[in-house]
Amino acid sequence: AASVRYEAEGSSAVCTGTIDSDWSGFSGSGFCNGTNSTGGHAQFTVNAPAAGTATVHVRFANGTGGARSADIVVNGTTAASASFESTGAWDTWMTKTLTVPVRSGGNTIRFSPTSSSGLPNIDHIDV
Ligand code: GCU
Repeated sequence: AASVRYEAEGSSAVCTGTIDSDWSGFSGSGFCNGTNSTGGHAQFTVNAPAAGTATVHVRFANGTGGARSADIVVNGTTAASASFESTGAWDTWMTKTLTVPVRSGGNTIRFSPTSSSGLPNIDHIDV
């Protein structure tokens, strides 16, 4: 099936931080700038047609020199992890592909940072 886009600033998402638009290149009207802390998450509620696995393409920017890591928490359980490498600049975006388990119907997918640096800026996910 065609993928569905969930914007970080959209009604199916929660950004523990601010929705910003000061760096160019984002889709929609902005991106999630999570607070620089382990609590600064971005969460999406996505619909799955059936239980199984979902492929998640997450678009991000990391203008720092080092990677930022996150747990991928699905329906409250850590299901995967990701290292969001430097993209070189805050207005340079990259897409990372992850596979996560899902149940039929609604699922919360949370990007939960593992260090006090927090998340990269998150633009959207395509699922
Ligand atoms: C800068 C940048 C933000 C980014 C932040 C961070 O302040 O302007 O867009 O979110 O760094 O370190 O996370």
